[in-house]
Amino acid sequence: MDLDSFRTLLTPAGRGALDEAVKILADGADPVAAASAMRRSHPADLTAAALTQASLRRRAEAKFGPDAAVMYFTPHGLEQATRPEVAAHRATRIRAAGIRADGIRADGIRAGGGPEGGPAVLDVCSGIGGDLLALARAGCPVHAVDLDPLTVEIARANAAALGLSALVDVRTGDAALADPRGYGLLFADPARRGARGRTFDPMAYSPTWPVVLDLVARAPAACLKVAPGIPYEFIPEGAEAEWVSYRGEVKEAAIWTGLGPGGRRATLLPSGATLTASGAEAETGPVSRYLYEPDGAAVRAHLVAEVAALVSGRLLDPRIAYITGDRLVRTEWAPCYEVTDVMPFSLKRLRAALRERRVGVVTIKKRGSAVDVERLRKDLRLSGDNSCVIVLTRIEERPFALLCRPATSTDG
Ligand SMILES: C[S@@+](CC[C@H](N)C(=O)[O-])C[C@H]1O[C@@H](n2cnc3c(N)ncnc32)[C@H](O)[C@@H]1O
Repeated sequence: MDLDSFRTLLTPAGRGALDEAVKILADGADPVAAASAMRRSHPADLTAAALTQASLRRRAEAKFGPDAAVMYFTPHGLEQATRPEVAAHRATRIRAAGIRADGIRADGIRAGGGPEGGPAVLDVCSGIGGDLLALARAGCPVHAVDLDPLTVEIARANAAALGLSALVDVRTGDAALADPRGYGLLFADPARRGARGRTFDPMAYSPTWPVVLDLVARAPAACLKVAPGIPYEFIPEGAEAEWVSYRGEVKEAAIWTGLGPGGRRATLLPSGATLTASGAEAETGPVSRYLYEPDGAAVRAHLVAEVAALVSGRLLDPRIAYITGDRLVRTEWAPCYEVTDVMPFSLKRLRAALRERRVGVVTIKKRGSAVDVERLRKDLRLSGDNSCVIVLTRIEERPFALLCRPATSTDG
C-alpha cells in the first residue's frame, strides 16, 4: 500500500470501503470474491487498499486485541510492533521513574510533564506506534520520528483512532538527526529487519548501534528495545538490561540508562513479577524428586541462581539452566515437574522405557542437548494412552533423558 492509497482510506469514502471490507472478510468471503463484490461500488485502488487493511486488522487481533478493529497497519509494521502488554509495562516503568524534564523546546514541543504528569519521550523509531500509543496512554507526551512516511501516517492515524492525538506528534525523519536533549527520555526500537531478513547483529540494526549510542549519550535517560539475544558486550556500562517474557515466552530485552544503578533484571508479564541479581550462587547436585525449568527471561538475564534460591534448588549442571530440588515450590519463575525416571540418553533405551509405560504422547524439552526433537519424536514410534514430559539435557558432559510429569501435589 502506498501513502496516497492509505490517505484515501482515511476519507469518508475510504472509511466506508474499509468497513465494508471488514464485514465481507468477517462473513468468510475469499479474497477474489471479496474483491469482485467491492469492485461493484468502489474503484480498484480503494478496493485493494481496503481489503489489505481489513485483512491486516484481522491478523492484528492476536496482538492488539479489540484495538486492532480501529487501528491501521503495514505487514512489517504489525510484525515489528511491540505487543501492547509489553509496551504498557515499559510505559508504566517510564511513568514511575520520577523523570523530570521541564521546559519547552525551541521547536515548540513540550519537553516535560504531560497533562497527567508523564515525562516527555522522544521515540526515534516509532513504527506504526506500538510503543508510542502505550506511552501516551500512560500520560507521556511523545514526539516520534520514523524514516518511512507511510509508517508515520499510520502511527498518526492510530493515535487519532485511539483518542491520543493530543499527546502525540509523529513526523518523518531520520533518528540520526534527532536531538534528545530537552526530553525526559529517549526511546529507541531500531529495525532489526534488513533487505536480507531478520538480523541479530546490533551493528546491522537501523539506525545502527553507534547512532543509537550517540543519541543515548545525549539523552538524560533512555530505553532501547533490543533482541533478547543481544550479546552482553553491547550493553553499555552502568545500564540496566531487562529481559521480558510474556506468558512464558521471551519477547525482548530493554536497555535502560540514566534511571538507576544498572544491572540485570528479568520481568514476567502479565503478572509484572520482576527479579534482579542478588549475588546468589547455585550449588550443583544430583537429580532429585523435582525438576524446575526457569523462565527464559531469568535465563537470559543470568538469574538462574536467583530462581534456584526461590525453590531451594540446585543446578543439575553448572552450565545448564535446569534446577532440581526435593520440595515442590510453586513459582511463576519456573514450572515444576516430578521426575519419574533418569537415564543416560540412548534412543533404544528411551524407546523401551516409553513402550513399557505405554506412552503415546510426549512433550520434549531440551537444554544443553543437540538432539533433533522432531526427528526423535518420529524415531520413538510412540503408542499408548499415557503421556509424559521428556527432558533432554547434559550432566557433567554426558547426555541424559529424564522422564517427568507436571508436578501436582501441594507440597513434596
Ligand atoms: C522495530 S520498528 C519500531 C516498532 C515500534 N516500536 C512499535 O512498537 O510499533 C523500527 C522502525 O524504525 C524505523 N527506522 C529504521 N531506521 C530508521 C532511522 N534511521 N530513523 C528513523 N526510523 C528508522 C523503521 O522504519 C521501523 O518503522
